[in-house]
Amino acid sequence: MAEPYVPPTPTEPQPHVPTWIPPPPTDGKGIEFAQLHTIELNLLEDPDPAVVQKLVETAKIAIKEDGFLYLTNYGVSLEQLHRQFSIGQYTYDHITEEEKERLKWNPQGGSYAGYKAPFGWRREKGAPDGIEQFNFYKQQFADLNLVPSCLHPLMEEIAAFVHYLTTSVNRRLLKLFSLVLELPPDWLYENIQSRGGIVADSYFRHALFRPLTEDIKSVGGGALRMNGHTDYGTTTLLFSVPVSSLQIWGRDNKWRYVGYNPGALVINIGETLEIISGGHFKATRHRVVEPPEDQRTFERLSLVLFNASESDMRVQPAYVSPLIQREGCIEEQGVYKEFKALMDKGFPVPTNREWRESQIASIRQVADNPKMKIVLVNGVEMSEQMYHGVKVLLPV
Ligand SMILES: [Fe+2]
Repeated sequence: MAEPYVPPTPTEPQPHVPTWIPPPPTDGKGIEFAQLHTIELNLLEDPDPAVVQKLVETAKIAIKEDGFLYLTNYGVSLEQLHRQFSIGQYTYDHITEEEKERLKWNPQGGSYAGYKAPFGWRREKGAPDGIEQFNFYKQQFADLNLVPSCLHPLMEEIAAFVHYLTTSVNRRLLKLFSLVLELPPDWLYENIQSRGGIVADSYFRHALFRPLTEDIKSVGGGALRMNGHTDYGTTTLLFSVPVSSLQIWGRDNKWRYVGYNPGALVINIGETLEIISGGHFKATRHRVVEPPEDQRTFERLSLVLFNASESDMRVQPAYVSPLIQREGCIEEQGVYKEFKALMDKGFPVPTNREWRESQIASIRQVADNPKMKIVLVNGVEMSEQMYHGVKVLLPV
């Protein structure tokens, strides 16, 4: 059986980290929530094959139809999770002004590593957006000089937590998805997932969304905080939080909030897995908006692990999958369709590294200028972006 997460015993004196107090959940009045399936990850190791088969079938429906699901019983307790939120909050309460400047990120270089100031998604200061982040890539786990000094005594604990997420939780999740593709259980983890060390080419994010002010609304996108997008990697592991701001794009072309499920992970499929699965898995569009009215004065702290695919690989459908052999590829599916068009013309698709770096370097968020190109497709407003020769159309 998979071992549950056990925090490390600290090897140096620990600072007092105040316990994070979760904001109250919304009363949900007038809100429409997405109805998502729940996967209890511990059932993957159930001795009864019928239980495992049922889990695989539920996962198949969830990732094919919604591209999003709740993951529960994955080995981290609510208390352990809240400890990580406490550390996240502690970061923003103690990072110094000097560190904000010295550790500032540089997305134009193709990576989000480091500190994001609450002024747009570029290195240089843009319009205010009230969003701060700290992004931990492998270099942040290797060199304490690249993280705020308040976190130095806590890095062992952050690293152990992230290592558990990458090597246990995500590995088991990919096992489930490999079974959906009717492949050997470790196929996706061993052939597609970037592996090695704490985080490999994936990254962990602490994000803090300060409440929207009129200033931010007037220069940014009103109630919109992050444009509709799909994630580039394999899977995204987002811890469910009480402040409801995440929305997903439904098959009926409507945005719906993702409700709070205490202790659960909200999982979504990235573009790489959509392509690997030949469009059988869906990289669902999502965005971040102002929460419901009763939560607008609260900060939203968010912890996310973005799992990346093997960097030098050029992705294509896993033709060894019996599911793909039997049913073919789903031609109309999002980014897969665009990659397919490229392959059909005989052009090489970008490597995973090129794909993610070009997205990060050129992405435009609500506070950035110039704004994204907006086009109308069948009466729906879509943003149009070109990444490494691949056109990506997404609902705003
Ligand atoms: Fe995302």
